[in-house]
Amino acid sequence: MNIHYDYDSEGNFLTINGVLRDITEQKELEAQLIRTERLAAVGQLAASIAHEINSPLAGISALLGLVQKKIYEDKETLENVELIHKAFQSITLTVQNLLNLCRPGLDTSQKININLIIKNTVALSRAHLKNKGIGTQIDLSPEVLAFECFPQEISQVLLNFINNSVEAMENCLETTNKKIIIRTKSSAEKIIVEYRDTGPGIAEHDIDKIFDPFFTKKKNIGMGVGLSICHDIVVRNNGTIRAVASTAGAHFIVEFSHPSPEKK
Ligand SMILES: Nc1ncnc2c1ncn2[C@@H]1O[C@H](COP(=O)(O)OP(=O)(O)OP(=O)(O)O)[C@@H](O)[C@H]1O
Ligand SMILES: [Mg+2]
Repeated sequence: MNIHYDYDSEGNFLTINGVLRDITEQKELEAQLIRTERLAAVGQLAASIAHEINSPLAGISALLGLVQKKIYEDKETLENVELIHKAFQSITLTVQNLLNLCRPGLDTSQKININLIIKNTVALSRAHLKNKGIGTQIDLSPEVLAFECFPQEISQVLLNFINNSVEAMENCLETTNKKIIIRTKSSAEKIIVEYRDTGPGIAEHDIDKIFDPFFTKKKNIGMGVGLSICHDIVVRNNGTIRAVASTAGAHFIVEFSHPSPEKK
């Protein structure tokens, strides 16, 4: 609010002029910018932590391999060391997946099977999902062919879907069978990824707005950018994305063109 007072030459008060400006929208945009920057900073931090964890992990795994060779006669200890080895391998895989997601060099287009991207991304989220009591059902068709895309970006789409599912199912009753279902299929021309969850689903009247930037129904946590980013990414990778309205859980269909042999 700007206020301006007018006086005459002798200093007597004449008028008061004011300008009232609604800055709610500006404040919201500033808050959104701060949150986006914070998320970017957290992402960078995660990448550097993953990097720091990676080297000692590789060392520990190699040492455990040596220990196993030395104690091959002590069966019980050997089995225990084997278990520790497996646990470290699992941590190594998680850290590798996290690094692959963040590594700028991998943010390039390559020919890759989407089944592999799905497997790695779900592996990365599995512990988080388990914590939230959410199971996964992954049906990947062996008929799906590799196609040219940006794997990190496709992974980002899946992570956005998964985050939304976690948030959507947060308030579901404990007795609800909380699940994320991802299927791949192959038609004559398309690679089809169907993503579903067992949350409240997306209502018919929201379906047209769902990919709009800043469309959110979440009171405190959402900026409403996740699905609009997913939309941009899928289009950039020559695909299409749509949501199906349903009260029986969210349902997204993402399609990419099959690499056609004639075009080679
Ligand atoms: N799996 C889902 N189940 C139910 N509703 C969903 C699901 N995914 C998205 N939505 C609805 O779509 C809206 C937009 O999703 P989007 O990911 O773009 O934004 P957001 O999750 O609200 O915020 P942000 O992703 O920026 O944190 C959500 O607010 C929610 O109402
Ligand atoms: Mg979201």
